[in-house]
Amino acid sequence: MSAEQGSSPVAVVTGGAGGIGAATVETLRRDGWRVVVADRDIALAHEVAARHDAIALAIDIGDRGGVESAAEWVEREVGPVEGLAAVAAHLENPHRPENQDWREWDDILRVNLTGTFATLTAFGRGMLRRRRGAIVTVGSITAFNSSPLQAYGPTKAAILNMSRNLAVVWGRSGVRVNCVCPGPTRTPAVEASYARGERDPQTMIRQTALGRLVRPQDVANAIAFLMSEGACAITGVELPVDAGVLATQCWGMYGGVPDAVDA
Ligand SMILES: NC(=O)c1ccc[n+]([C@@H]2O[C@H](COP(=O)([O-])OP(=O)(O)OC[C@H]3O[C@@H](n4cnc5c(N)ncnc54)[C@H](O)[C@@H]3O)[C@@H](O)[C@H]2O)c1
Repeated sequence: MSAEQGSSPVAVVTGGAGGIGAATVETLRRDGWRVVVADRDIALAHEVAARHDAIALAIDIGDRGGVESAAEWVEREVGPVEGLAAVAAHLENPHRPENQDWREWDDILRVNLTGTFATLTAFGRGMLRRRRGAIVTVGSITAFNSSPLQAYGPTKAAILNMSRNLAVVWGRSGVRVNCVCPGPTRTPAVEASYARGERDPQTMIRQTALGRLVRPQDVANAIAFLMSEGACAITGVELPVDAGVLATQCWGMYGGVPDAVDA
């Protein structure tokens, strides 16, 4: 961390070593935050932190005690946390419900549901004391609709619900809580999934209004805005960053999304 960062507000990004997380770290640094890259993959967290003059921290959000210790460490060693982007999640591949791997089910619930709640409460405590903070959770478009992500989708729906709950209960204590809901985003992990044939980018693009997939930077921009003073009157919202997937719902019944008109 460079010396001139001393007076900057502190933001923590869980999952900060991943595709959307790393883009968020970069954007928050550009916006003047001092950033903690908190991730289970500490080697990658160090790489991202080194690239953006940030601080790496090992965290497994599925370990409640570890999350509490991490929050205490950041408050003590880095400074009072004013911003939190709760990005970390256990992803899942499409499958039929009858074929659910129960170990994976337990992992997804432990990380996405319990882990996100543990993260919000551990890092939110200091914000409540100081009556100042902005939290952004990361849902998904699968939170709104049916999908073949049998465990992941329900946990993302729960994240929307818990974000609204905390937005209300913490609102008068000066803490805002909002949720961004990405559509299919071209992160390195998703690109690898395309390469393995588990997902088809062209099929996904057909479901978008804009005719393209989302970039990690697009999601990072929304997170940084919701965390900024510019969003000081916004709390308890879900913001889709999905290139219009949610808006295309009924168009499949009418032949799909129309092509661009000729100029
Ligand atoms: N990529 C997409 O298409 C997409 C779509 C909708 C929502 N999302 C959401 O966006 C967020 C970021 O996803 P991404 O696509 O960048 O994935 P990613 O796999 O690139 O990043 C996830 C990061 O979280 C970390 N992580 C996983 N489990 C953890 C744990 N228990 N404790 C701490 N860190 C942990 C991983 O090490 C990784 O760095 C996730 O919440 C995901 O559900 C992504």
